[in-house]
Order: sequence, then structure tokens, then C-alpha cells
Amino acid sequence: MKSSEIRKHFIEFFAERGHVHVPSSSLIPSDPTVLLTTAGMQQMVPYFLGLEKPPHTRLTSIQKCFRTVDIDEVGDESHLTFFEMLGNFSVGDYFKAEAISWAWEFLTERLGIPADRWYPTVHPDDAFSYAYWRDTIKVPEERITKLEDNWWGPVGNTGPNGPDSEIHYDRGPAFGCGRPDCRPGCSCGRFLETWNLVFMEFYKEPDGSQRPLPKKNIDTGMGLERIAMILQGVGSVFETDLFFPILQAAAEKAGVQYKQNPRYDRSLRVIADHARGVTFLIGDGVFPGNEGRGYVLRRVLRRAIRHGRLLGLEGPFLADIADVVIAHFSPYYPELVEQRERIHRVISHEEALFQRTLAAGIARFEALVDQLQRSGETVIPGDEAFRLYDTFGFPLELTAELAREAGLTVDRAGFDAALEHQRVQSRASAGRFADTVRERAALYAQFSAEPTVFTGYTELESEATIRGLLSLNEALTEAEAGQEIEVILDRTPFYGEAGGQVGDTGRIETSTGIAEVLDTQRPTPELIVHRAVVREGFLQVGQRARAIVDGERRAAIRRNHTATHLLHAALKQVLGEHAQQAGSLVAPDRLRFDFTHPTALTEEQLYAITRRVNEEILRDLPVDIAYKPYREAIAEGAIALFGEKYGDTVRVVSIPGFSKELCGGTHVARTGEIGLFLITDESSVASGVRRIEAVTGTRSVELAWQLRHVSSTLSQQLHVPVEQLPQHVEEMQSRLRELERSIQRLQAELATERASQALTDAVSVDGMKVVSLEVEAPSVEVLRTIGDRLRERIGSGVVILGSAIEGRPTLLAMATRDAVRRGANAGDVIRAAAPLIGGRGGGRPEIAQGGGVDVNQLRAALRVARDEAVRQLQLTQTG
Ligand code: SER
Repeated sequence: MKSSEIRKHFIEFFAERGHVHVPSSSLIPSDPTVLLTTAGMQQMVPYFLGLEKPPHTRLTSIQKCFRTVDIDEVGDESHLTFFEMLGNFSVGDYFKAEAISWAWEFLTERLGIPADRWYPTVHPDDAFSYAYWRDTIKVPEERITKLEDNWWGPVGNTGPNGPDSEIHYDRGPAFGCGRPDCRPGCSCGRFLETWNLVFMEFYKEPDGSQRPLPKKNIDTGMGLERIAMILQGVGSVFETDLFFPILQAAAEKAGVQYKQNPRYDRSLRVIADHARGVTFLIGDGVFPGNEGRGYVLRRVLRRAIRHGRLLGLEGPFLADIADVVIAHFSPYYPELVEQRERIHRVISHEEALFQRTLAAGIARFEALVDQLQRSGETVIPGDEAFRLYDTFGFPLELTAELAREAGLTVDRAGFDAALEHQRVQSRASAGRFADTVRERAALYAQFSAEPTVFTGYTELESEATIRGLLSLNEALTEAEAGQEIEVILDRTPFYGEAGGQVGDTGRIETSTGIAEVLDTQRPTPELIVHRAVVREGFLQVGQRARAIVDGERRAAIRRNHTATHLLHAALKQVLGEHAQQAGSLVAPDRLRFDFTHPTALTEEQLYAITRRVNEEILRDLPVDIAYKPYREAIAEGAIALFGEKYGDTVRVVSIPGFSKELCGGTHVARTGEIGLFLITDESSVASGVRRIEAVTGTRSVELAWQLRHVSSTLSQQLHVPVEQLPQHVEEMQSRLRELERSIQRLQAELATERASQALTDAVSVDGMKVVSLEVEAPSVEVLRTIGDRLRERIGSGVVILGSAIEGRPTLLAMATRDAVRRGANAGDVIRAAAPLIGGRGGGRPEIAQGGGVDVNQLRAALRVARDEAVRQLQLTQTG
């Protein structure tokens, strides 16, 4: 029975039993937490969970599946990556009895496979199924096996799951181990698990607990390849009509025959499986990459290429094999024909990429093995595996496979560490394109002859052709995932930064890859350049591309740009015609406008401007765009920017009755779209130039809300209505200042009080007193106050004070007038003492001050100061 007939019988059989045939879902699941579709039930999960209503309670499908667990095993006679699963599903409709009965009927009657070939298994706790097989289906008890692992799901840590019942096919004693207890579950391979009936009745929560699903469901899955193998009476899935033509095509290309040389057979099976897998993966939109499903695809592609080499296939071959896959499977999966061009390009590209380094990589690997074996080692170091990965493009698993073949293992932890190290480094070097436009002039020159057509006034998505791909220093023909590039298109909706308006962001997609556009520049008036990172697959010069601008961001930019024009006109009305634009920035989150005006704007002026702009927004005026000769536009009163060059024909942006400017930027269709306009700041940029910053759209809503939040919080904390807050805060501040003053006074008094007690220690020199003291003063002001008071108290003489003010030693000397006349000099006192505290100082004879760094020497300095003052007074006395 041909596989096409099996498909037909299966769907018909279940349609007769009320099932609706649903098409296979994509290999890329809609659940973002799942890497690839691995079973027919994947698309049914929302129905099982009661989250979505199914098209019907009975469903049947033939689902394309891809399982990664066995990739490295593929090459033997049974393991596969890609396969098709025949399934029937009940969403809260029938349960175990019907599922078992129908499966049995389909196998034994519709397909006509003898009943005594089939061996059911059940979960040990599932008494119903056991009894049902025995009593209703009448399978002899000795052929029913209880298996502990008859439980299916969940996929991942959480999800629907339940006990299952498997139906195994007995391939005959010739395939078995011959042991008396050989039964399903035995590893010898005699019994082939063919159909799995899952009784989905539980949901596993993230905490590990199981809860019953809203309804009991059925999920069954039968491998198409296996049932074909049974019905076609062949020894392995690779000899069924689902595989053989593919395997044959590979054998012919390599000039070998299947079943002649076991080593070649293995490679042929790898190629047959992987060719199917990659064709379907690419057909569903997966691109080769270094992460996630992109990495799965790359790994499988490169493994197939390497096995091609083992067969002597030196040049590209895989795209041709993919054609055989497409020819055989497109009747059931028409998307393969639609995606043929993409499938070809991606495979050929990856082949070319890997062929370039494969031979050198293998040579390197062999040298390594040689070296390790000679030194008696068995582990390939992680950094060597990383080098093979990074320089030669060997996925780790490929290196591991090569190692296994040579009797070695790989240090995977070492590999991971090297990979992580590289990631950290490349993150650090991101964003290198910034501000290099001028240095790149030569690169741009070759494209400038044909100006980029800007389509972004009318559309946000455009079809285009890639004219150029530039790296940091050269023009490329293609760019890979992870590469930072500049893309030049023949036409683009992306606005290149100009006239104050920032460049657009978004993405560029081709049939083989996706690049994320991070910025758009106009290095020359003719050229629009997209700065981008290739996120998936690759881009090639000459490819058709779809250029898609981030529409929300652009809308925000538009609002700010039109608001800038309104602001410009309002400034002229409120301040006068002299308010000319001197610069601007139009970004998605704010706008900035510089203009000529001699003085800071008053609150009243700012409010008047805000009102004027918002009035024009509320009038919801149309924004008119017209192209006309420059002279005509100027004659109509359009504002042109001083110093800007304009062509003969200019673009005039006008808001009727309010504003008219020459402008190339993007604008809203009507002023109402701008929303609330709020000024956030007014400042000076240069003499005679002021700057206003403002927000619109969602940003102004956020800002208004934030202001409301701040004011209402303050109002609650201070228990004053919002409108009285400014006055209240002013009163609080003046009270605070008063308090500070009285504290200072009190501190000085306190310190003076303490110091007065020390006056008794004053040195007397002929009726004059010299006092030298360390005091506690929080500030120089307080220190001086203390000094003043002590000077009064001693009447005649010199007062020297030291204090650690905020951790720094400070000295103060004061001499009364009569002491100065007697020869005292405060300046000299400080000059003599300050060096001790590591500082300097000086001043007048009456008062002087000094500071230093070494607090510990303060006392010593005070002593020196006192001795100096005493010396000064004694000098005159004796002299
Ligand atoms: N989900 C089950 C399986 O994958 C039955 O379809 O085996």
C-alpha cells in the first residue's frame, strides 16, 4: 500500500466517524515557549485547555513534526528528525472505548493487518483500558503488557498529559532477542511502537501538581513512516516510498548503491532524513542561525553536508535533493512549491558557506586528533571545539560526532565558557557605525549615481531591491545573521535623518533573512542608508526585499514634527517676527526647538505659546502638502530656513491660516492627531538663542499624569490643596532659613560659653592676653562669631581658634586693635602655624584664616600659633 493510500484511508476512516480534517500546522508553533512542533496535539492544546473553541469536537490530521532529541542518532535504521503523524482527536467528546475500538478496527480491518501481529500496552493503573483490550477487543491477556512509562506529556514542564495505550507491531522472531520474556518495551527491536493513544485528562501545573482538565480528551498519534514500513513489507522506514526516492537521488549523485557499504548507507540515511527536515523547516520560515530553531536547522544542514562529503560529494548537492523532497511532498504540502526559491537559496547559501571552511576544518580536526592521541589524551579541549565552531563553522554536535568516530569526547563545559566569553565581547563592541559617515564617503560614492527613491510619505511598507550591503569598511555581496551592516535599497519608506527629524527604525525582510533597522541616515542628499543588524538568515545584494517601518514610532515622530511647525508659528505670534528657527530635533519621545530671542521667556509667554499651539491642534486643521517652485512658495510667505539649500521645486507644508514652511519631513494628516502639546523646559543655548523642549501624543499624557501624581502626593503629605502648594513651600522655606539662623546663633553661643571657661588659661604678656583654643564649630561663620565674642571678652590681645570643620582643620586668628599697634599680626600667626596642618593661609594683621588637611596636627598648630603671638607681643615690649 502506497503512503498516499494510507493517508487517504486514515482521513476517510475518521471522517466516516464524524471527524473534521484539519490541515497540518506549521513546524513553528504558535506557542512561543515551544521550539518546534513535535506532535499532532500541539495545535489542539488550546482546545484541550478550554481556552479556544475547536472547529469541531472530533478532529483528525496529518501533522508534520520535527523532533530534535535524536538528531545525532539519525543514520541508523529507525531514528528520524522530521516525520508525519496521523492523528485523531476528541475534545471532550469520545474517550477510551472509542479510541481503542477505532484504532483496532483501522489497523486490522481497514488496513487488513492480521490481529495477531498487534500487542497493546497500558499504564499499570489504567484498569479500564486493560479490561477493554481483553474483554471487548478480545486480545489474549498474555499479549497485553502493562508499562510504567505509558504516560504521555506534558511537552515541557507544564501542560496537558495523561496515561496512554500503545499498539506495538510484532516484526517476528527474526528481529528479536529470543528471550522468553521478550515483549513490547524490550530494547531488541522486535516490537515496533506504531500508534499511541493518549487519554488526556490532566494538566500539570508549574508547581508540579496535576489538576483534571475541564473535559476528558483523546490525542492519538501514529507514525506515517512506520505504518508504511509495515504495509510495504520493508526492513526500515528508509526503504518506504516516503524515503527511498530521496535516498536513491543521493546515492545516484554520489555514484554509490544503497546496501553495498554500511558506511555509505549511514550517510545516505542521514542525507535522506536531513534533506526532508531542512526542506520542511525552511519551507515554514526557519533560517539558519546560531540560536533556537535557526541553530537546529544549521546543525542539520551542516551534518548533511558533511555526510555528503563522506560519500565523495564535494560540490553543492543538497538543493537538488531538496527538489526531490519537494516533488514528492508538495501534493500534501503545497507551501513547499511556493517556498521553493527560498528553500533553494537558503540551502545553497549554507552549503557555499560551509564548503568554504569544511575541508580546512576537517584538516584541523585531524591534526588535533593526531596530537591528542600521541599524548595519550581522549578529550578535545573546549577552546579547540570552540575554534572549530567559530572559525570553521562546525556545530558542537558535529565536532562531537567526529570525536566519537575517532574514539574521543569533547569538553562541552569548556566550549560553553568560550562561547559565553565571545558573546560578552561582541556585546561590548556593538554600535560601531556611529558617526563614521564622513569616513565612509568612498563606500557611498559608488551608489550615489542612482538616488534612493523615498516612498515613506505615502506608505510605511515598500517592495524594494537590495542595491548594496556595507560592512564597516567594505561593500559585501551578502550578510549573515549577527552581522552589523548598512543596507542600501533602490526605494524605501524609511526616512533618513534630516531637517532635525531622526531616522526611522523597523525591519527589512527578504525570502532568506530578516534585518532589524536600528537607524536610517542620509549620508548624501541622494542616498538613504539603513543601519541594521541581520537577525535571521542572510541578505544578498540583488534580492527582493520588503522594507517595513516601525509605524508606531513614526506616528510619534510625525506628531512632534507638525507640533514643531505649530510652535514656530506660535512663537512668532507671541514673541514677534524676530523669533527665527535656529535648530530643531524631532524624535519620537520629544521635540526640541531653538530660536532667536534675547531674553528668557516668562511664565505668561510660555503659557500663551502653549495655548496657541493647543488651540490649533483642537481645531483639527488639515496639514497640506504641496510642491511648487521655490520663488512662488516664498512669495506666498512660506518660511525657509536660513542657510538651508533648496532645489527649484520645494515641498511646502502648510496648516491653513497658521503656518507655512518649506519642509521635507513627515507630518500628521490633521493637527488633531498631535494630542496635547506640553512644554517641558525653556533654556538658553547661546547668547540670543533660546530653546524650548516639549512633548505630544502619548508622552504628554504620561507627563501630565506624572505631574498629577507628584502634586497630589505632595498635597497629601503636606495637607494643603494643590493650588496652595507653591505658596506653602515658599513659607516653609523661609521658616527653614530662619531656623537655620537661630541654630547658628545658638551654636556660637554654646561654643563661646565653653571657650570662655578656658580663658583662664590665657597667657598674659604685659597686660595683653593670648588665647589659643580648639573649639567645635560647624562652619567658618560660627568660628568667626566665636572669635568675635572672645576678642570682646579679653579686651586686648590675640585670639587663636582651631576647629575641624567638615573634617578639615581650620585656623582663625584675631588681634585687637591695640594689640596690633603693639606689634601683633594675625596674618603672620597663621602663616607660622598653617604648615603644620599641611596647608597655607594668611590675611590682615587684625584677622587671618588658614586651612589644611591634617586634623591630627591641629593642637600642635595651635601651640605654634600661640607661641608666635606671644613672641610678637614680647618683641615690642623688649624692643
Ligand atoms: N501526543 C502523542 C505522541 O506524540 C500522541 O499523538 O506520541
